[in-house]
Amino acid sequence: GFSWTLPDHPKLPKGKPVAVVVLDGWGEANPDQYNCIHVAQTPVMDSLKNGAPEKWRLVKAHGTAVGLPSDDDMGNSEVGHNALGAGRIFAQGAKLVDQALASGKIYDGDGFNYIKESFESGTLHLIGLLSDGGVHSRLDQLQILLKGVSERGAKKIRVHILTDGRDVLDGSSIGFVETLENDLLELRAKGVDAQIASGGGRMYVTMDRYENDWDVVKRGWDAQVLGEAPYKFKSALEAVKTLRAQPKANDQYLPPFVIVDDSGNAVGPVFDGDAVVTINFRADRMVMLAKALEYADFDNFDRVRVPKIRYAGMLQYDGELKLPSRYLVSPPEIDRTSGEYLVKNGIRTFACSETVKFGHVTFFWNGNRSGYFDATKEEYVEIPSDSGITFNVAPNMKALEIAEKARDALLSGKFDQVRVNLPNGDMVGHTGDIEATVVACKAADEAVKIILDAVEQVGGIYLVTADHGNAEDMVKRNKSGKPLLDKNDRIQILTSHTLQPVPVAIGGPGLHPGVKFRNDIQTPGLANVAATVMNLHGFEAPADYEQTLIEVADN
Ligand code: 3PG
Ligand code: CO
Repeated sequence: GFSWTLPDHPKLPKGKPVAVVVLDGWGEANPDQYNCIHVAQTPVMDSLKNGAPEKWRLVKAHGTAVGLPSDDDMGNSEVGHNALGAGRIFAQGAKLVDQALASGKIYDGDGFNYIKESFESGTLHLIGLLSDGGVHSRLDQLQILLKGVSERGAKKIRVHILTDGRDVLDGSSIGFVETLENDLLELRAKGVDAQIASGGGRMYVTMDRYENDWDVVKRGWDAQVLGEAPYKFKSALEAVKTLRAQPKANDQYLPPFVIVDDSGNAVGPVFDGDAVVTINFRADRMVMLAKALEYADFDNFDRVRVPKIRYAGMLQYDGELKLPSRYLVSPPEIDRTSGEYLVKNGIRTFACSETVKFGHVTFFWNGNRSGYFDATKEEYVEIPSDSGITFNVAPNMKALEIAEKARDALLSGKFDQVRVNLPNGDMVGHTGDIEATVVACKAADEAVKIILDAVEQVGGIYLVTADHGNAEDMVKRNKSGKPLLDKNDRIQILTSHTLQPVPVAIGGPGLHPGVKFRNDIQTPGLANVAATVMNLHGFEAPADYEQTLIEVADN
């Protein structure tokens, strides 16, 4: 029968503290002026790379290696941390939604049947990120869904859009709105009353995460549910074009707007009897809105009016909270994660990041599950992030504080695994500010030094890796790798993640001297890291985990 007990590793000892460091958004790419990791002073990460070749290697962090539909899909933190923690590759939200739409099964499930009850007399509201980034949502999925729901009886549809510019190029919002408007026009020609009702930039409206700033969600609620916003327009295209023309405006931070009719009334507030679907498949930036839409007891902001609605998520976003309770597509069943195994095998675990990435090393790491497996053996520490700023103005973020927490946890002797996420490369990389991203990379490198010094002091082991690329490439390139210029001859800044591989480095005084990376695994990816970490703790990984990256030579 099934057992949580992990077999002892035949050669590797137990009892060495292991530091697991995830540098967010830290890929490997050609060294040039748009590679901020290359430009920055990163002596610690450089020394790992240029040290023993059997202790540093690259692994895949995008596409099918992390459960995304294709190898054209860049990596992201959700799928990256899921793979790192779970040790296996699960078909992820993007792919599961594709499959459910292609087979039509999305329309057979409980979630769809539930919202369908509202189609006769209520409005169907679709709220989510409008882009083809494939990280949180995908425009083509929305297009198929719009067609599908209208063929199945939805008579009145309102779409509440969030502009992207973070997983896709800034400025691309205009094209996405045009595409959506065309589809809605076609639906109207078929007699469906379908239009865009509200909008705003994803980082300023709705898509906050890990409860960093509830005002973001409130701004969305006011526009989407109450129909109130500082800006009113006759069309979404006009809204996005006008708001983008304001100084310093960009897609990520557009202010909230509502679409109004000729009498100036909002065209799509949410009322009793309506249905709402949040179309993002990714959890972290939808959980807060899901709580506002679903919870009767809610005091994170004043909702003013709480309509009685039928609400479903594209997926269920939190398996522990069972939130939302209704959903169109079942989420990946990420079970038996390495975190759960290790805790059940006595590994006392410390995990830490700052707010904006806190859930990455806890919730995502543990298979989209919030909370502890065993509170007596685990401690998760969240360092409050700065809120209300873009991180290019404070590119050091809380890297130092995170590193100090990790150092103290190591030195305390109370933990067997100390796991952190250092957000700088990613969060500052997403701003598109190259100079600030260089500072960010240096800060992350300094944090790694603090942690590795502590590992040295306690005779421990380290494994340093990343979840996906970002800071190593800040420019959009053509197929041959040359930077692409816009019509004003300026380079096109890449705010998004990349398809690049990421490093894995191991070492520390506690590492058995015979340990080295194997070279018999064809194309290892992030999912191979979990078995590796289990080995470093002195255990063998479960048989169905992706293979360990290391082998132990006799000496
Ligand atoms: C975000 O949510 O900030 C981006 O869409 C993806 O970034 P992450 O995957 O690094 O969190
Ligand atoms: Co990112």
